[in-house]
Amino acid sequence: MPLSVPVTPDLLFDRLKHIKLGGATCLYTHEKCEELAPLVNQVLELKKEKEAVVLAHSYVNPELLLVADFVGDSYELSRKAQQTSAPTIVFAAVKFMAETAKILNPTKRVLVPGKMNGCSLADSITGEQVRALRKQYPDHTFVCYINTTAEVKAECDVCVTSSNVTRIIEAIPNQNIYFLPDKLMAKNVQNELQKKNIYKNIAWWDGTCYVHEDYDPDMIRYLRTQFQDLKVVSHPECHESVLAHSDYVGSTSQMIDYVNKTSSNAFFLLTECGLSSRLQLESPSKTFVGGCTMCRYMKSNTLQDLVRVLQVPDPEDDISLSSDICQRALKCIEEMFRYGK
Ligand code: 13P
Ligand code: SF4
Repeated sequence: MPLSVPVTPDLLFDRLKHIKLGGATCLYTHEKCEELAPLVNQVLELKKEKEAVVLAHSYVNPELLLVADFVGDSYELSRKAQQTSAPTIVFAAVKFMAETAKILNPTKRVLVPGKMNGCSLADSITGEQVRALRKQYPDHTFVCYINTTAEVKAECDVCVTSSNVTRIIEAIPNQNIYFLPDKLMAKNVQNELQKKNIYKNIAWWDGTCYVHEDYDPDMIRYLRTQFQDLKVVSHPECHESVLAHSDYVGSTSQMIDYVNKTSSNAFFLLTECGLSSRLQLESPSKTFVGGCTMCRYMKSNTLQDLVRVLQVPDPEDDISLSSDICQRALKCIEEMFRYGK
């Protein structure tokens, strides 16, 4: 639940002071909370005035989580976007996620506050490249990760997220799959299926997430020597060697569920460090170790941006898609919901 007005600097500091893992933007002093509190109150008031709902991904700056109506992973956020009755959706995340909300709500206004709202995966492939691949792989079912543009989803058969990718690829009747754009996730899915003696013919695009591809097992080995009973929790966008050294692998929300139900003296989360920040906010008694790897796109969302889009959005803050792209991309996303049932 978001905070309610009036939010004082003391209250804000009390909530945010436990955050220790995070870059400079995620470390909170009392002075910083004095600057943030008026903005927090402004966002909460504007939200009510404009009848807007704020959806936020766990990776954004922690103060934004305190004004959001819902915080989640990309699957949960797309579900929330489908269910909301608010006329305006402010999507504090990255553009491809806001596009997904627009595809599911073509008549609603969808605003994206972040000014650097790309994604190294979504930006790695275009619709035209998918059309060329489909000619090259005519017998394949094209599965796209949700981290793709609307234009790319419009060219694919089924969308997946990190929470359901293995389950859906397993359920697709076709043996021939083309997965895009994350090559590390594709390899991880292939490994998971092989553990169950399922051998699908999976071809993939050469994309990576620049945040997750940086992790390697060395840090895991080192931290295991420093913290007895360390639990290593990884996102499937990491390299297979990282996953092989992990205690649990899942989407950002699945990682949170694992941490919440596991008692351990320390957790190392191999994903964008906003997830550790969020957990330090919500579960201050747990210990999180490791470094901070930030997604510059997610972290480009600020409270000032939320105020701007709620007051007078710039034209590029307002997601606009052609009805043809919307309809074709919707089919691809609805296939994911159908498989998810
Ligand atoms: P989730 O689907 O786990 O939220 O991940 C999205 C993402 O962008 C990971 O880098
Ligand atoms: Fe994209 Fe990686 Fe940022 Fe997620 S963390 S939004 S995959 S660049």
